[in-house]
Amino acid sequence: MSEQTPIQQQIIDAFNFRHACKVFDPERKIPGDQFETILEAGRLSPSSFGFEPWQILVIQSPEKRELLREFSWGANGAFNGSAGQLGTASHFMIMLAHTDSTMNHNSEYLQQHLREVKQLPEEIIAFINQAYKKFQTHDFGIKGKRQITDWAARQAYIALGNMMTAAALLEIDSCPIEGFEMAKMTDVLQQHFDIDPERYQPAVMAAFGYRAGEPGFDKTRRRADQVVQWF
Ligand SMILES: Cc1cc2nc3c(=O)[nH]c(=O)nc-3n(C[C@H](O)[C@H](O)[C@H](O)COP(=O)(O)O)c2cc1C
Repeated sequence: MSEQTPIQQQIIDAFNFRHACKVFDPERKIPGDQFETILEAGRLSPSSFGFEPWQILVIQSPEKRELLREFSWGANGAFNGSAGQLGTASHFMIMLAHTDSTMNHNSEYLQQHLREVKQLPEEIIAFINQAYKKFQTHDFGIKGKRQITDWAARQAYIALGNMMTAAALLEIDSCPIEGFEMAKMTDVLQQHFDIDPERYQPAVMAAFGYRAGEPGFDKTRRRADQVVQWF
């Protein structure tokens, strides 16, 4: 690679530093202001039409985390005999995707979002409504609860990526976690976290903290020329 400026080097160092951390040092907690910065990186993330179709649950209660253990094989340490990310992370989050009940083109929620969050004038709102309806029903053909929720989840992952990068820049470790049973998670969220599955579905989880030891594997990736095509 050619000569790097300090900021380029800092970016690449952060991406090399970040790895999927399996076990965190349970004694080390992320300072509150630094975790706020990570959350801000998520909140300020881009989303299609600016609809922010995600919610973030930060699960700090050990009892609440334990409710997830049985069906969260990607975070319960089953593979390495540890307490897993659930038992060791300084901060643990569940990201929810909005469903069709809020993200459907004719939902009242979106009208409220355009008025109250984006504070747009009525004529612009009418224009966005038209464009969004065409996008959803024709251009992308996103129909029904499953497709709309998956589309929302894709955007939640952008916020997730930004949060993990922000963490890495602060030398904070993280792990994205899809290793859980969707149906059981949905039930637990409804019963113990008061999350209405008609409005929100689980998308992905993430753990943050400080590594207990160095990663067990070197980072491997396809070469750039196998990934990128220039035209
Ligand atoms: C969407 C997503 C879900 C993942 N789920 C899990 C998981 O449940 N448990 C886990 O330990 N790692 C999980 N990972 C981590 C990947 O296995 C890891 O990112 C990949 O092997 C590359 O390694 P690296 O991130 O250490 O560079 C997940 C990664 C992504 C992006």
